[in-house]
Amino acid sequence: MMPQETSQSPVSETVTVAVLGATGLVGSHLIRILEERNFPVRTLKPLASERSVGGHVTFKGESIPVELACPEAFEGVDIVLASAGGSVSETLVPEAVKRGCVVIDNTSCFRMKPDVPLVVAGVNDDDVERHQGIIANPNCSTAQLMSVLKALHEAAGLKRVVVSTYQSVSGAGKAGMDELRNTTRQSVNDETVAEPKAFQRPIAFNLIPHIDVFLENDPVYGKDLDGYTKEEAKLICETRKILHLPDLKMTATAVRVPVMIGHSESVTVDLERALSPQKAERLLAKTPDVVVGDGVMDYHTPAETAGTDPVYVSRIRRDSSNMGQGLNLWVVSDNLRIGAALNAVRIAEVLVQRERLKPLPLEQLIVEETTPSQSEKPSEALLESEPTACATPNTKRHVIQPTQDVLQHVEDVEISAIETHDERVAEEEKASGESCAMPTPHKN
Ligand SMILES: NC(=O)c1ccc[n+]([C@@H]2O[C@H](COP(=O)([O-])OP(=O)(O)OC[C@H]3O[C@@H](n4cnc5c(N)ncnc54)[C@H](OP(=O)(O)O)[C@@H]3O)[C@@H](O)[C@H]2O)c1
Repeated sequence: MMPQETSQSPVSETVTVAVLGATGLVGSHLIRILEERNFPVRTLKPLASERSVGGHVTFKGESIPVELACPEAFEGVDIVLASAGGSVSETLVPEAVKRGCVVIDNTSCFRMKPDVPLVVAGVNDDDVERHQGIIANPNCSTAQLMSVLKALHEAAGLKRVVVSTYQSVSGAGKAGMDELRNTTRQSVNDETVAEPKAFQRPIAFNLIPHIDVFLENDPVYGKDLDGYTKEEAKLICETRKILHLPDLKMTATAVRVPVMIGHSESVTVDLERALSPQKAERLLAKTPDVVVGDGVMDYHTPAETAGTDPVYVSRIRRDSSNMGQGLNLWVVSDNLRIGAALNAVRIAEVLVQRERLKPLPLEQLIVEETTPSQSEKPSEALLESEPTACATPNTKRHVIQPTQDVLQHVEDVEISAIETHDERVAEEEKASGESCAMPTPHKN
């Protein structure tokens, strides 16, 4: 039961697309998926660092030269698919927006900014409506969970979510895959094993409960998440933002494992209302983008599912410590596809279908009422608890004021206090070896 996605882009208007980070793991998948889905590309502009200028990428049989990623490269571009790391996005995405592009950004740079929609296609498409030039693509381990959690929430109300991840080395880019390949070969050949660079500890025949930096009193993720890694905080806070559940109780442990492609997640959900494993199976089997294992033995592994598009859910069973109102699930997906490139291309399809390539004028931007329905209402305990920094506030209908982060970014990337924080985080990421941290952007 491993179907290969055959869906095609349902849009017809042709657009000019720039892929920022075109030579990277996510970038090369973006180009492949644009082609696979027959996205109506008028012109493709592959952009990367100076290192790649002179090289070529292949798109629809055509060899296209890689250009230097610089502000002028975005002239005449409609959609930018950005995956060159947080520090590059921080500098170049505002330049693209200034030139009239809409940017779908794969880095963590803008995800938690209130004015930037954070979208998983098929889960919260309506959020694209309020974009002001940037739409963020969530972290790979967040993206694969969203259709599953949304379906369970709508059926039985999510009360609490506990996730442990088993994340492949491709989540740390090409450098991560090279390190696993090389150090495994060195180990089996009894050669000296190179010191870890892409990871904090040796990854061959090992696992590492440390992805991205450790947080302490982080202004974006909040004091509640002190001692968590930023990867774990992203999973928690991005889930709350995408599902519009700012008070969702959630905890996570993120672990890097010696798997090339495909992230796996052990998920425990506490539900407001009883839901049997059989009903959950039937519900998830009907959920778009989800494939459910056929019985106990039909579980999924990352090596078997890499290269395919669905989110695979198996081992659905009652949580024996919370009989009737808790479930355990095993969720596997290709982190480079649904977790990154496929979702970005699907967001681009939504934009073209809805004719939202240009942002709505700010004065017309109405935020739909997001007060939780009865089933979403937080428990008394939650109502009493302090709101966390990453919680998305519930909003009554109101007009967004044109004074927020995105515009400041566009006007002056140097002066925002949040940006200063982001620079620090980017530096920390760089030091930690996580792929969100890319080399210092090319100066133009
Ligand atoms: N891997 C995943 O599963 C995943 C999932 C979701 C999001 N992401 C995010 O996507 C981004 C890219 O990840 P990746 O795995 O594709 O990394 P990668 O394989 O290391 O690729 C990085 C890309 O960025 C380009 N780049 C680096 N520095 C640049 C600069 N100064 N100016 C212009 N281009 C520059 C590289 O170009 P050169 O080849 O010229 O160096 C390359 O094309 C990261 O922010 C990551 O967190 C990754």
